[in-house]
Amino acid sequence: MARISLEEKFKETGGKRPYVQRLFGRIARIYDPMNRLMSFGLDRYWRARAARYLALGTGETGLDLGAGTADLSIAVIHASGPGTHMIGMDITPEMLDQGRTKLARMGLQDRIELRVGDAEHIDLPENSVDGCCSAFTVRNLTDIRQGFREMLRVVRPGGRVVCLEISHPPGKIFGGLFYLYFYKLAPLFGTLIGKAFEEYNYLPNSLTTFPDAPTLKMMMEEVGWSDVRFYQPSRGIVAIHVGTKAE
Ligand SMILES: C[S@@+](CC[C@H](N)C(=O)[O-])C[C@H]1O[C@@H](n2cnc3c(N)ncnc32)[C@H](O)[C@@H]1O
Repeated sequence: MARISLEEKFKETGGKRPYVQRLFGRIARIYDPMNRLMSFGLDRYWRARAARYLALGTGETGLDLGAGTADLSIAVIHASGPGTHMIGMDITPEMLDQGRTKLARMGLQDRIELRVGDAEHIDLPENSVDGCCSAFTVRNLTDIRQGFREMLRVVRPGGRVVCLEISHPPGKIFGGLFYLYFYKLAPLFGTLIGKAFEEYNYLPNSLTTFPDAPTLKMMMEEVGWSDVRFYQPSRGIVAIHVGTKAE
């Protein structure tokens, strides 16, 4: 049987956005435990580090795009001053439902508000948040530049953007081992343990066309972010890009 490409699947579902939304809707319940398992717990460390780069001040409000089950929003609250608030936006209601249950359990429902919303068309006025962040979201956008343009619009002058994403680790040996794990073993875990073959095969495929860290930096600068730099923890498995909106 001929294999259907990801592009053809997007077309069948009416585009990448509805495809991604349905996909995350199906795995929302297993998303957190599968994340911990497939990253060997490193995902928590990566989010905590990204949250420190955003570092919101007392009473400030941040925006988490593709907030999913709210883990990055929670990390930002833990890394920031008192009275900080987060708005977490996501196109997949099932992911946000899991997040709401978690926030209620942690008593954080008054500090983090979760709403359905699209990162490429953010339903917020210009300069309305003090900082913006995302974790493992940008790879899923239809138009990455449009996402960064929207982030720039809603962040106040002087505010920051922080983007945490899976990346392309450099080096033949380590890079090769990573690709073996990411393209072969991780989907196998997803299929056997999560019982979600298509969903956990989308994961590596979504990285194939995703730009490397220097190219992503360039894309952020092209749409107007200043002082863009990136960090590559865990030997470049992930990249954390940080930019500032000029005053
Ligand atoms: C891999 S999950 C990451 C969730 C969370 N940020 C985390 O750190 O675990 C990607 C999330 O991005 C959301 N997403 C994808 N495209 C989006 C868009 N255009 N606008 C908002 N959210 C989007 C998906 O619904 C999904 O919840």
